[in-house]
Amino acid sequence: MIVSTSDSQAVAAALAEATGDSLAETAYERFPDGELLVEVPPVDGRAVVVGSTISSDAHLELLLLQDAVREAGADEVVTVLPYMGYARQDEAFSEGQPVSARAVARAISPTTDRVVAVNLHEPAIADFFDVPVDAVDAAGVLADPLPSALESPVFLSPDEGAIDLAETVRDARGEGAVDYFEKDRDYDTGAVTITPSEVDVSDRDVVVVDDIVATGSTMSEAIAILQERGPNRVFVATVHPLFVGNARSKLANAGVEAVLGTDTIERAVSRTSVAPVIAEVL
Ligand code: R5P
Repeated sequence: MIVSTSDSQAVAAALAEATGDSLAETAYERFPDGELLVEVPPVDGRAVVVGSTISSDAHLELLLLQDAVREAGADEVVTVLPYMGYARQDEAFSEGQPVSARAVARAISPTTDRVVAVNLHEPAIADFFDVPVDAVDAAGVLADPLPSALESPVFLSPDEGAIDLAETVRDARGEGAVDYFEKDRDYDTGAVTITPSEVDVSDRDVVVVDDIVATGSTMSEAIAILQERGPNRVFVATVHPLFVGNARSKLANAGVEAVLGTDTIERAVSRTSVAPVIAEVL
């Protein structure tokens, strides 16, 4: 049985379709003090709890559902994290800070038998869990909603760390060049500085690929640099379309042809599903 948190119902439904498992209808109540109560149907066999931890509430709801399915009879609990929040604080960047990704992983571990995580911010985050983790790369599904005809395409990542994703999308597409820009972020102001590579983008279609768009600063800076170099069309493709604040407007103003995201986080740009990739390891 697939059991979804309230924020991840679309990807959970797609997963139920891909696996043939039944999809639970969870009931919700609030206590007078605002605390959440969840209730799931009886479980016979395995429960797959699907939840992107896009907020503290979403994280807590996931923990409650992990506990509920066990109470409801599950003999195995698999936790699917289409998007794992707090993953970008994967080390203590200065004294006194937590390793937030580790703290979150440790909270999830005791009430699950294993974890499936989609495009973790860093592969090493999988080691923070106390249970086996299948870390899957779903970036290839971002090739699906691209137009059927692309002009001499270039698949570009805005920093070196995301070049593997650009390669994955290019490979799924079947043809095109791959390159990356260099990125520096001022962690006091959040400002992003991008140093372009020498790749020739003039009159070519460029697909800028990143694991996550949060504030949109990285993408809009990368696109601004690209636009000075005369590309044909610029597409943004991201596995995790978090889009906080005015991120979507920033991209629109930067001049993109289309923004393509997956359903790890349900947004208007979620044009393709990671469910088939998750289903392969379930
Ligand atoms: C950084 O390492 C990530 O790959 C993304 O580039 C970054 O998290 C995007 O954040 P923002 O949209 O706030 O620039």
